[in-house]
Amino acid sequence: MRRSAIPLKRRTMPTDIPLVIENLSFRYRDREGAAIHGISFKARRGEILLIAGASGCGKTTLIRCINGLIPRSYKGEMEGRALVFGEETKTWPLSRISQKIGTVLQDPERQILGTKVLNEVAFGLENLGLPRAEIFERVDEALNFLKIHHINCQKIYRFQTILRIILTSVIFS
Ligand SMILES: Nc1ncnc2c1ncn2[C@@H]1O[C@H](COP(=O)(O)OP(=O)(O)OP(=O)(O)O)[C@@H](O)[C@H]1O
Ligand SMILES: [Mg+2]
Repeated sequence: MRRSAIPLKRRTMPTDIPLVIENLSFRYRDREGAAIHGISFKARRGEILLIAGASGCGKTTLIRCINGLIPRSYKGEMEGRALVFGEETKTWPLSRISQKIGTVLQDPERQILGTKVLNEVAFGLENLGLPRAEIFERVDEALNFLKIHHINCQKIYRFQTILRIILTSVIFS
C-alpha cells in the first residue's frame, strides 16, 4: 500500500481545523424552500473569513447552524454538518458551545448587559464560573490586547457604536 508523502506530524487532522462546514443545508419548518443550500468551506486557525451577500441570502442562518441556535431555537430540516474542531456542535451542550463560539449581533445594544466596560467583559467569564483572579487576569489581557485598558472603569453608554461592537467582541476572547 502506498502511503501519503506528507509526514504524519505535518498532516492537518480534521480536529485541528476550528470550523468545517460540509454540504450544509437548512429549511425553516414554516418555509417551503431552503434558506441555505449545500454550503461547504473551512476556516483555519488564524484566518478571518468574510461571508457577504444580499439580504436574505442566508448569512444569519449559517451562523445559527454554527452557534447552535439551529436546531435548539429554530426548528426545521438540516442536512450536512457544521464541525468545530472535528465535532458536530449540535451534539454539544450550549455551555460547551459558548466556550468555543462567540456571536456578535448586528446591533450591539442588544448584547450589552453591564454598565462599566470591566463588568461587561467579565460577564461571560463569570458565567463560566471561573475563579475571580483568573477573570481579572483575562479581562486585563483582552483589554490590553485591544489597547482599551484605560477605559476599563468607564460607563459603556458614553461610547460610540464602534467601541460597543469591539467590546461585544472582547467578551468572546
Ligand atoms: N426564523 C425564521 N423563520 C423562517 N424563515 C426565516 C427565519 N429567519 C430567516 N428566514 C428566511 O431564511 C432566508 C435567509 O435569511 P437570513 O436571515 O439567514 O439571511 P441574511 O443573509 O442573514 O439576511 P440579512 O442580510 O438581511 O441579515 C430568508 O428567506 C429568510 O426570510
Ligand atoms: Mg442576517
